[in-house]
Amino acid sequence: MPSIAASVLSRTAQPHPAHWSEITAGLGAPQASISPKYFYDQRGSELFEAITRLPEYYLTRTERALMHSHGGAIAAAVGAGRVVIEPGAGSCDKAHDLCLRLAATHFVGVDISADYLHGAIARLRAALPGLDARAVGGDITAGLRLPAGIPAERRLVFYPGSSIGNFDPPQAVALLAQMRALAGDDGALLIGIDLPKDRAVLEAAYDDAAGVTAAFNRNVLAHANRLIGSDFDLRQWRHRAFFNPVASRIEMHLQAQGRQRVRWPGGGRDFAAGECIHTENSYKHPLPAFTALLREAGFARSQSWTDARGWYAMVHARA
Ligand SMILES: C[S@@+](CC[C@H](N)C(=O)[O-])C[C@H]1O[C@@H](n2cnc3c(N)ncnc32)[C@H](O)[C@@H]1O
Repeated sequence: MPSIAASVLSRTAQPHPAHWSEITAGLGAPQASISPKYFYDQRGSELFEAITRLPEYYLTRTERALMHSHGGAIAAAVGAGRVVIEPGAGSCDKAHDLCLRLAATHFVGVDISADYLHGAIARLRAALPGLDARAVGGDITAGLRLPAGIPAERRLVFYPGSSIGNFDPPQAVALLAQMRALAGDDGALLIGIDLPKDRAVLEAAYDDAAGVTAAFNRNVLAHANRLIGSDFDLRQWRHRAFFNPVASRIEMHLQAQGRQRVRWPGGGRDFAAGECIHTENSYKHPLPAFTALLREAGFARSQSWTDARGWYAMVHARA
């Protein structure tokens, strides 16, 4: 089981020493930041699902269409009867389709938003009664471990949604290497990658007209208030999202709308008007660069499928 207890993050409301240290260290740094994993309490997970349905958010639609149109080829490459493991499983919607297509025997969803995941796994069990489906609440960056009884053979680690883009390249390699170890020598990884594209398309996807992504971004402050006992006033923070072409990544920030002091037990920080808290990166790796990261992590062979616009890729990587 994961080293962080299932209860810690999303049965949310209790301040916890590990989160206190991590969040306050980020807030206290010269460039203040909060890890994007803290977007996801129950409300954050619900807001993310709303984002996936927005007209501007092409990622989920494109990935699902790709999985559908190349489903036969992907299933042939992956092989039937797999044990599917999805870090950051969220709603498990994509897992449902994949497990059905692969006639998977087992599914393990791991997510930091544990209550939300438990609901999703209950729905998955009802929809696919022959599947042994388990929920593991926990932080994948603290280690990827599985419940007892999950077969060690024929494992497929499924990491869709371009979630790997949230990690700086060295962190991404470390996480991919963990996935490689979890998959084992006869296992594989099926991963979704958002590719570089027109800046306006990218920026709209992370700053939608209805303001759902803005609410999602600000929710990190509400979650922080519960986790560390801080007193962020969400109305004082503006959502900002832009493409950084040098790093090839979307950056999300929260910008202080006026000078303010934020307090938490044992500390606090003054923010100047206009100062930002960096809340997320979403790297857009060209496919060859991503394949190089996979190789560094121990995946020697890979095959990929891309949509007609060249916006998104599914990559199947073997040890
Ligand atoms: C972008 S969503 C993707 C959800 C789903 N896999 C999909 O493709 O639609 C990221 C998911 O990863 C989870 N997550 C983010 N950081 C995590 C971490 N450090 N450990 C475990 N889960 C995490 C979130 O709660 C969320 O459900």
